[in-house]
Amino acid sequence: MDAIRVKGLSVYYRTPLGQVKVLDSVDATFEEGKTVGVVGESGSGKSTLGFAITRLLPPTGITKGSIRYYDTELLSLPAKKMREVRGTGIFMIMQDPFSSLNPVKRIKDQLMEALLVKYERRKETLDPKSGEKEILKRLSDVKLPDPDLVMLKYPHQLSGGQIQRIVIAMGLLLEPKVMIADEPTSALDVSIQAQVIALMKELQQNYGMTLIFVTHDLAVASAVSDKVLILYAGRTMEFGDVGETIKQPLHPYTQGLLKSFPSGSYKEGRLFSLKGMPPSFFDMPAGCRFNPRCPYAFDRCFKEEPGVYGVGDRLVRCFLYDKSNKS
Ligand SMILES: Nc1ncnc2c1ncn2[C@@H]1O[C@H](COP(=O)(O)OP(=O)(O)OP(=O)(O)O)[C@@H](O)[C@H]1O
Ligand SMILES: [Mg+2]
Repeated sequence: MDAIRVKGLSVYYRTPLGQVKVLDSVDATFEEGKTVGVVGESGSGKSTLGFAITRLLPPTGITKGSIRYYDTELLSLPAKKMREVRGTGIFMIMQDPFSSLNPVKRIKDQLMEALLVKYERRKETLDPKSGEKEILKRLSDVKLPDPDLVMLKYPHQLSGGQIQRIVIAMGLLLEPKVMIADEPTSALDVSIQAQVIALMKELQQNYGMTLIFVTHDLAVASAVSDKVLILYAGRTMEFGDVGETIKQPLHPYTQGLLKSFPSGSYKEGRLFSLKGMPPSFFDMPAGCRFNPRCPYAFDRCFKEEPGVYGVGDRLVRCFLYDKSNKS
């Protein structure tokens, strides 16, 4: 069963320079209890996808298409109902974790409120003493030093790494059905990153949580995910099983991303280094938007934008896989 099904999702931002389309007709499915890694370079639209699913885009954001959460269409859901979905339904650990916290409330009160949300949804009563225990347990799970002291502080009195752990703990406390983790460990030391990721996986196993794990690092994604969604300049370039993707990346962009992969795991020798930068949304190249950086680009790639082709159970947006190639 799919927990989230995104279809034809486009997101536009209104800017002083005009409207930009930063996600272009994205299709993706997020199967219940599984992890999808959303991977792409900076600016490819990863956070925008998370904000669209949680309906937390800024007021300048415009969404088109469909996002289903089980049987519920989120894009037409009244704001009040959407608030009910957010939290224990879908929880997003933001890339900027400070924005998930209220600056004028102590950490303890905010975690207690999160816990209360979970208990209310389950129609259970929360005993403050056992609530505090549950919070301390989660704070120690995310390896936050001195949790008793930290609980009494306000967000601005804490470091980025501490805040990141608190927001992850908040996510763990809520036990959401779907967790969107947007670069959740970027402010943490490498050793702690691995522990926190392991913890998320544990929660996923214990509660059947669906995880959407956003990262620019394909190696990290491959360690946590069942499937990967490769985004480039707002377009899905490849979607499929993570093991197969690492073994045999289909899209030239994915091959380029794999170049930075830890040595030895990819041996086919077709890898090339990604040169240059993603295009500006104000100045998209004609045809395939990856063509300026693609070593395999041929005539057709400069004239037409490729559709999505199926290769086994995988999907790839590249003419190299168009069997009818009529260039
Ligand atoms: N509020 C906004 N108004 C206008 N443009 C925006 C806004 N937010 C993001 N963008 C643009 O949309 C594009 C996608 O941004 P997004 O933050 O989703 O990328 P990302 O993949 O999460 O990048 P990163 O890895 O740096 O976090 C970028 O070009 C960005 O500049
Ligand atoms: Mg981002």
